[in-house]
Amino acid sequence: MRPVEIKPGIFWVGAIDWNLRDFHGYSRTSQGTTYNAYLIVDETITLFDSVDVKYKDELLCQIAHIVDPEKIDTLVVNHAEPDHSGSLPDIVEATKPQRILTSKMGEKFIQGRFHPDNWPIETVENEQIISLGQRRVQFLETRMLHWPDSMVSYIPEEKLLISQDAFGQNIASGERFDDWIDWPQLKWEMAHYYANIILPFSPMVPKAFKKIQELGWDIDTIAPDHGLILQNYVAETLAAYQEFAAQKPTEKAVIIYDTMWKSTAKMAETLASGLADQGIRVKLFHLKSWHHSDVMGELWDAGALLVGSPTHNNGILPIVADNLTYIKGLKPQNKLGFAFGSYGWSGESPKIISDWLAEMGMDQPESPFKVKHAPSHDDFKALDEVAQRLAQAIKDQAA
Ligand code: FEO
Repeated sequence: MRPVEIKPGIFWVGAIDWNLRDFHGYSRTSQGTTYNAYLIVDETITLFDSVDVKYKDELLCQIAHIVDPEKIDTLVVNHAEPDHSGSLPDIVEATKPQRILTSKMGEKFIQGRFHPDNWPIETVENEQIISLGQRRVQFLETRMLHWPDSMVSYIPEEKLLISQDAFGQNIASGERFDDWIDWPQLKWEMAHYYANIILPFSPMVPKAFKKIQELGWDIDTIAPDHGLILQNYVAETLAAYQEFAAQKPTEKAVIIYDTMWKSTAKMAETLASGLADQGIRVKLFHLKSWHHSDVMGELWDAGALLVGSPTHNNGILPIVADNLTYIKGLKPQNKLGFAFGSYGWSGESPKIISDWLAEMGMDQPESPFKVKHAPSHDDFKALDEVAQRLAQAIKDQAA
């Protein structure tokens, strides 16, 4: 794909990874992704971020459509994760920049990953402003959003925020802007991305917004390092990020389970029906059919997480442990928990799950529920009553 001029003299020069499914080894993307890099042609020619190493030739080719890569003076590394810096050695060799600008932590990551010889790395101060000629750039460190090195670049003359991973979405498409997609779909993609990457760092989000407000940044275009460039939905995006960070629980429940001989599956479906009958929005995941990142994409705004596993070898089934490990690491807030499962003779699994939920800080208004062998009529009735009480607790929490 050719470069796309997103503002006069400012070009998208990234790459589209249409077939990516394994994102960073821990998340799944059903729609691929893009690695966005931006070239500003001013008195100083500056490349902001780069691309995954597998697209290094495409990046250089894109740049060559606009300028000779050797004319690039400055490289800006907003974020040194390899999907944005993996091609840096090739870009440095091709462009021979006068300077590579990054945060102090960014320099540590670049040194640690590439062990470079005599790269002209210059660290920028937080809130430092540099001139490109007709335009200026102000850098703002956004530590732990989502790596220690993360920073964003704002070009005031263009009202343009180059936001690295923030506001990204894993959407591979031939379109570069957000004028073809409905807001609910875009928000869903943004939420899925946020929940799997940024959620544990949510307390930093309001602080970053406060700083942006203090700096008086007037933003009409957000250019993230993944997905669509935002022009149509800037206000919605900024509001959505504050909503994601707040994790206000809604009248929604996520039920995850695995099953051996379908007893735990029947328990999960009974709970789902009981909650739905009470007006709770339910997302049910048999974990063998879903990826843990799909679960997180729905969990961020849920009011409750219900987890089921039969007892197997005195423990829980492996895929349930995988999901609990993943969810715990992302530190979801403001959720009620409930544990359930079937067993044949020892029956430890609901207690093990309940301990996980407690470690995640989830209140559990109902005791762990276990069924020996297969659920009876009385068990289904009891589970339905549990679902009714849980529904009320979810509604009370969301009120
Ligand atoms: Fe898209 Fe944190 O890298």
